[in-house]
Amino acid sequence: AEICRFRSQLLGWYDSTKRELPWRTVATTEPDINVRTYAVWVSEIMLQQTQVATVIDYYNKWMKKWPTVQKLAEATLEEVNQMWAGLGYYSRGRRLHEGAQKVVSQFGGKMPNTTDALLKQLPGVGRYTAGAVGSIALGQVTGAVDGNVIRVLCRVRAIGADCTSNPVTEALWKTAHTLVDPERPGDFNQALMELGARVCTPKNPLCVQCPIQTMCHASRKVSFKQEKDSKSN
Ligand code: ADE
Repeated sequence: AEICRFRSQLLGWYDSTKRELPWRTVATTEPDINVRTYAVWVSEIMLQQTQVATVIDYYNKWMKKWPTVQKLAEATLEEVNQMWAGLGYYSRGRRLHEGAQKVVSQFGGKMPNTTDALLKQLPGVGRYTAGAVGSIALGQVTGAVDGNVIRVLCRVRAIGADCTSNPVTEALWKTAHTLVDPERPGDFNQALMELGARVCTPKNPLCVQCPIQTMCHASRKVSFKQEKDSKSN
């Protein structure tokens, strides 16, 4: 019952405050699963080390030039690097290009259509990216734990210790798999990311705006409140 409340509070907040981002529009309106998966894959790779505001322009230009995985496979590495200029971490663009060529040459142009296949078949796609693309583009019921989500879940569960340690991360992946809304896994995961980016921030979290505050153990702790206050003063 508490899990149900967590999901509905979080998704209600997301529905009323979410930003319209181009890859979200594709994920919800594009009927071709191959195009949808390709588009969300591109967006998640760009978002790995770059902020949303910067990614939007690059994403739109990229999708205009290479609207399908086949088109990307036909591009040259020089074109890809040129398109990537300014985004940094160029290996990300290179791996998208490599991945597209692999999809075309080995899988007849069909994008992997499960989270597990994304993880195993695409270079540069780790557990987080596979979970994000799998849930957002494919509707698969899987968690997606990135740095923002780690912080949110650590606070909700009031895990005091080092939240980035391996055993804690493993536990948080289990938590994420349990929490994810089976009806709307992609929205649920993006809602958690968005909560971490905009409300449950590293410094001065905006707990008064948080849709799950009543379920958050950290926000009830005196030490957390004092820490917050000392940082905002
Ligand atoms: N960061 C990583 N993936 C994201 C997404 N789908 N939307 C917003 N921010 C993100």
